[in-house]
Amino acid sequence: MDTDGHIAACAPLPGRGDLAPVVLAPLSGITDLPFRRLVAGFGARWVVSEMVAAGEYLSLDPGSRARAELGLDEAHTVVQLVGRAPAPMAEAARRLAGQGARVIDINMGCPARKVTGGLSGSALMRDPDQAERIIAAVAQAVAVPVTVKMRLGWDAAQRNAPDLARRAESAGARLIAVHGRTRCQFYEGRADWAAIRDVRAAVSVPVIANGDIACAGDARRALELSGAQAVMVGRAARGRPWILAQIAAGLTGAPPPPAPAGAALAALVGAHYEAMLSFYGSHVGARVARKHLGWFMDHARTPPGLRARLLVAPPGTVLSLLGEALAGDPAAPQAA
Ligand SMILES: Cc1cc2nc3c(=O)[nH]c(=O)nc-3n(C[C@H](O)[C@H](O)[C@H](O)COP(=O)(O)O)c2cc1C
Repeated sequence: MDTDGHIAACAPLPGRGDLAPVVLAPLSGITDLPFRRLVAGFGARWVVSEMVAAGEYLSLDPGSRARAELGLDEAHTVVQLVGRAPAPMAEAARRLAGQGARVIDINMGCPARKVTGGLSGSALMRDPDQAERIIAAVAQAVAVPVTVKMRLGWDAAQRNAPDLARRAESAGARLIAVHGRTRCQFYEGRADWAAIRDVRAAVSVPVIANGDIACAGDARRALELSGAQAVMVGRAARGRPWILAQIAAGLTGAPPPPAPAGAALAALVGAHYEAMLSFYGSHVGARVARKHLGWFMDHARTPPGLRARLLVAPPGTVLSLLGEALAGDPAAPQAA
């Protein structure tokens, strides 16, 4: 932790005892470069990209815009790869590291059928030999740290995260993040933070606990129950990019930095909106921005009529409506 209450510097990377305690989870369709910049602006030092399919990435021109699009020049970016075969995963990692990626994370947790159907993501938990081959190939291909994100297992009968984590460590993984659900739970029920303790006991590399962490109280409990060195926050950051900084402060007992409100919140959301339009172009950008604007307005309890008007308005009108739309209570109180 920094003395100013922000999240501690995470580079130099895992295994050196200075792991940031609160990191941003990869969220496909959400943790794009504009959003990661926003969260990093509040002090997060470990922000994970949306998953990048190794095969698709390799089919791009080597001189493609991936470097700019993935934010490989950004200090705190972790690039997550997803794929099922060691060679393309290793080649994609090599290329990404060559373009400046500082950490490569391997997705072994995604439950979506379109991913598991291709025998990648959490499907690799059912094929630990293949999972291990992928991790070894990637770790051998790059000098930067390689990390793995997994679930507790495929289903209640196969909670093999400790075994896979052990194999991952011996194959060269430098950190393991665990979402405390099985694949077959998808997002149902509650994340089982205590079950992550078996992963912690199985490896000597740092472990990050993930799932349902939305405030400092959750984070403290997750750390206590799991013994993990850090927590990873995903959905709670939607519409609240400052939440990681608040959780990190709460973990040290420091007063949480206040959530931006009023004109400051409207300015922040307006700048994020403009960043999305410029990153994606105005058409796609406006579509992507709608999700984020919706989350900000959920928290601000924007009146439904105004919300509906804003979501279909052209950019200039969106910017002019934000002040009124976000004038409400910006954030639920932080649990202690
Ligand atoms: C919309 C969405 C997209 C996600 N995309 C990814 C992804 O690209 N890679 C990944 O490893 N996990 C992905 N996840 C899982 C999250 O990283 C995280 O493990 C999960 O949401 C539980 O954490 P949370 O309760 O803090 O959100 C995604 C989850 C959601 C809801």
